[in-house]
Amino acid sequence: MSAVREHFGSRLGFILAAAGSAVGIGNLVAFPVAATKSGGGAFLLVYALFVFFICLPVMMAELALGRRADKDPVGAYRQLSGGSRPWTIPGWLALFTPFMIAVFYLVVTVWILGYLVETLRGNLDQLATETHFGQFINSPVVFVYLVVLMLGINAILAMGVKDGIERASKTLMPMLFIMLLGLVIFVLTRENAMLGVKYYLIPDFAKIDSAVVSKAMAQAFFSLSLGMGIMITYGSYMKRGDSIPGSSRAVAITDTLVAFTAGLLILPSIFHFDPQIDPTKLSDSSAGMIFLFLPKIFFALQDSIGYFGASAFAAVFFFLVLVAAVTSLMSIIEVPIATLCDERGMERKKAIYTIAAVQVFLAVGCAVSFGMVKFFTQFVTLAGESKSFFDLIELLFYDTILPLNGLLVCLFVIYKWKKTNFDKELQEGDSSFAGSISQKYINFSLGTFIPLMLLLIFINTVALKFF
Ligand code: PHE
Repeated sequence: MSAVREHFGSRLGFILAAAGSAVGIGNLVAFPVAATKSGGGAFLLVYALFVFFICLPVMMAELALGRRADKDPVGAYRQLSGGSRPWTIPGWLALFTPFMIAVFYLVVTVWILGYLVETLRGNLDQLATETHFGQFINSPVVFVYLVVLMLGINAILAMGVKDGIERASKTLMPMLFIMLLGLVIFVLTRENAMLGVKYYLIPDFAKIDSAVVSKAMAQAFFSLSLGMGIMITYGSYMKRGDSIPGSSRAVAITDTLVAFTAGLLILPSIFHFDPQIDPTKLSDSSAGMIFLFLPKIFFALQDSIGYFGASAFAAVFFFLVLVAAVTSLMSIIEVPIATLCDERGMERKKAIYTIAAVQVFLAVGCAVSFGMVKFFTQFVTLAGESKSFFDLIELLFYDTILPLNGLLVCLFVIYKWKKTNFDKELQEGDSSFAGSISQKYINFSLGTFIPLMLLLIFINTVALKFF
């Protein structure tokens, strides 16, 4: 057993750390693109409904599980199920999923770090060329960035929960908000920016179909870092007297506001670049946006603010995304670390080295999935399509197992751990919650339609992507 379990020092510290986990590449790039292509304001509305009526109860369930057990996900399921063997399976899934998601998220973050360094070196013009991204991701320098990034993140984690994660979040998150606001204000003063704002916000309800609804749901779920064992782990570091419902709301609001604000950065930039553009034709992939399209837009800013100004803008943007990604990575890497400490009684530093070594090894497999090594580039064939190692991890863990984990959390909390215990945990630090409408809603929804919706998403993905 590890010595004394560390906890976050303050409620604000917890909120910023959890918001740091939630705010990531998903908010800054994936959300604005999804909203733009799927009905603008109408998508925002559907998304917000999902965040508050579907995802928020799941977040509370994960935090309550973690805090009650005061343990990592595996230990939490084991303890609160009274040692039931089948119920440790969701615990292992809630460990394995973040472990693997961290691997592909690491690789994307490595590229962001690389783009930041290139911009600072004055190479924005090269980043804006068609061929640069393909060359960059296949060059050995990515391994150097991978090592640098891992050293940086693990140095923070080695300082512990309070002095590492909490302190870093308290510095990085306000910095992120300021940078985002600064970029938005600048972009909104550019020519044709308002065309982008209009395009982003004017609702087109005709675009809302079942595919858009399931996209909004998946996006909201991922964005709040659910189904990854993260909130269970962070819940276990939460102080007893803090309100879970109140803190969860603060995290969800912050995350949603950042996603919304990022749209006010991306869309006006696109329309400033080309007022005639049809944003529905933009690439669906976040990587395509960040590494292929946005550098072109940033480079074009040189016409109005010069090459230096355009490079400064791009550098702040890449730094912003890097900060968001690093605080997310910290939280996701913490999950397996907590498990090694709690389940194996390993010392924290040793757990950090162990996890880092395995993750770097797998991340290298992902990094060479884009042509460098054929074995990883054409790793499997699924539903007639050849998939790389990177694609496979994304498909298996992010697309498929994530909603399954969410489903298991709901079923476990309501039917195994039981509502009364869950309610007791939510009421601790929040006496007004007892008997409130939100309490009734949360109990009802977590036992009925939320798991049902997650099940449908899971079945749909399996049917579409695997057969
Ligand atoms: N919420 C994160 C995002 O939007 C998702 C995430 C969390 C990814 C933690 C990796 C690690 O990008």
